[in-house]
Amino acid sequence: MPRIPDDIVEQVRTASDIVEVVGQHVQLVRRGSANYFGLCPFHKEDTPSFSVNTERQIYHCFGCNAGGNVFRFVQEVDRVSFTEAVTYLAERAGIRLPEHEAPSAAVAENDALFRANELARKYFQHLLTSDPQGHNGLSYLRRRGLDEDVIARFGLGYAPSAWDGLIQVARRRGLSAQVLEKAGLALPRRTGNGHYDRFRDRVTFPIANLTGRTIAFGARALQADQDPKYLNSPETPIYHKGSVLYGLDQAREPIRRQGRALVVEGYMDLISLSQAGVEHVVASSGTALTDDQCRLLGRYAREVLLVFDGDAAGTQAAVRGAEAALAAGLEVRVVVLPEEHDPDSYVRERGVQGLNQLLAEAAPVLEFLVQRLRQQHDLGTAAGKGQALESLRPLLTRTADPVRRDLLLREAAQRLGVDESAMRQSMQQAQRRPGRPLPRNDADAPPATASAPPPPAAEVAFLGILLNHPRLLAATAAALPVESLTHANCRALLTLLLSHADAPGIVDPARLVTELEDASLARLVTQCTMQGFDPDQVDAQWQDYCRHFQRESLTRQIERARDRQRQAAAAGDEAGMVETAAEIDRLVKERRALLPEPAP
Ligand code: UTP
Ligand code: MN
Repeated sequence: MPRIPDDIVEQVRTASDIVEVVGQHVQLVRRGSANYFGLCPFHKEDTPSFSVNTERQIYHCFGCNAGGNVFRFVQEVDRVSFTEAVTYLAERAGIRLPEHEAPSAAVAENDALFRANELARKYFQHLLTSDPQGHNGLSYLRRRGLDEDVIARFGLGYAPSAWDGLIQVARRRGLSAQVLEKAGLALPRRTGNGHYDRFRDRVTFPIANLTGRTIAFGARALQADQDPKYLNSPETPIYHKGSVLYGLDQAREPIRRQGRALVVEGYMDLISLSQAGVEHVVASSGTALTDDQCRLLGRYAREVLLVFDGDAAGTQAAVRGAEAALAAGLEVRVVVLPEEHDPDSYVRERGVQGLNQLLAEAAPVLEFLVQRLRQQHDLGTAAGKGQALESLRPLLTRTADPVRRDLLLREAAQRLGVDESAMRQSMQQAQRRPGRPLPRNDADAPPATASAPPPPAAEVAFLGILLNHPRLLAATAAALPVESLTHANCRALLTLLLSHADAPGIVDPARLVTELEDASLARLVTQCTMQGFDPDQVDAQWQDYCRHFQRESLTRQIERARDRQRQAAAAGDEAGMVETAAEIDRLVKERRALLPEPAP
């Protein structure tokens, strides 16, 4: 639960205009007096069904049903917790959050880790840019062609060669060596007493999360005999390597605009491209792309271009990255650079134009893979084809979307020169083969809520009327039992709304979203609120819906009573038969007393 007091949360929410906040991520076009539309950032679409309502301060996607208030938007788009979303928006609005009282131990520890990384970033940055100690670091970066702008933009720094430069500075700020150790910035001495700095005499590359806070570092050696060339922060409670992409905090808007992302391996590759004006780039930092990283990219891009080094390691990383990207539902193309190049050197030598040309020629993933297989196997022989098939299998079986999988399969069969149906069969057999479990991808399983039936349109429309005209709540409480609605979430929402029947003034959809912890209920609020209807007809429509639900409810009761009557008859229970007959009679009369259903 939020540890930030409710009134402050509310203050932050009202100070954060949802159109502005969403507008940083989605190009919005105004439609009507209070609505804006754009392409949904949460699912792939070509025509805008994502809408933002200024008056209500909520968003709702008519395509994928995402929805919520400004907090929920930041949570979903940046994949952060509620508290982080509030904190980010508070900072943006210039609202000071009170020091949280008694935060949980884990939160307090994470705060310390953030502070340690932030301090390290500032300290290293200071040394690089304005301290003689950083001279070597700065001249190294200059030699590699980086200008001041880009050095500042990426917060590059220099870690001093002393054994305890950072430890000393941190101690003066009240951060112990133990905290630095947890943050991955210091190591315990082998002798058992004391600590030393992890990063020494290296140029530092701060790694940020999506809110821009430093959570880890990569650090490059300056001397040829320093090993390893790049030293990275270890996993910590705030840094999970596999789910962070270097540079994404800065690149995500350019990526969203282009609908595609370039993925390179190195820090220097990314920075060098950025300096050349290519901004839609992230770096995997020397490992193959993970499923988590691809899912993250999938929030911003439809397509990834893997731009990997021309060497064997680069090709290998491209293959594994391609599998993960396909599994995440991304289109994949692969650019293999000439043997001696990496993206950094290539863009320096050929400029952006040269790079763009290479990108334009990027091979679709299967072309790249099959070409590679052709070098490894003799595709003229059955054995060679078999081996090639075998190595394509993970890629095909992991492609989540069945339609894409089918297309890929067909293409693979063509390129390998094997019979499509034979290929299909061999894939299926392999899937059934025991002892070789298919890689599972939990995030591809539909969310639990997806299996729940969607709420009926009438119930959505009716709740929409109540959300937009809470003055009708009192009359609703008198006219309609909650059980008259059929959908569990609709009932829950109606119950919640009716609990405010005597103070309808406080019913505010955007505020309700903050209160609702259940995301599916919060989505229902926005879905209902965004239903369009004619304001002049509200009372008449409300009346019609009430009658409709009463009638439906009576019909269901009559059906149930008839069931019971049949059971009584089958059991020869005469008293039961008489009783149910009377009940049916009463219900039917009650239903007849309702005015007839209006013509649609
Ligand atoms: P490269 O060696 O290709 O990096 O490793 P680079 O950016 O071209 O390095 P420069 O140009 O020599 O400075 C690519 C990435 O692999 C990781 C780093 O993230 C690096 O950016 N790496 C590399 C390591 O983590 N450790 C290493 O020892 C080497
Ligand atoms: Mn390089």
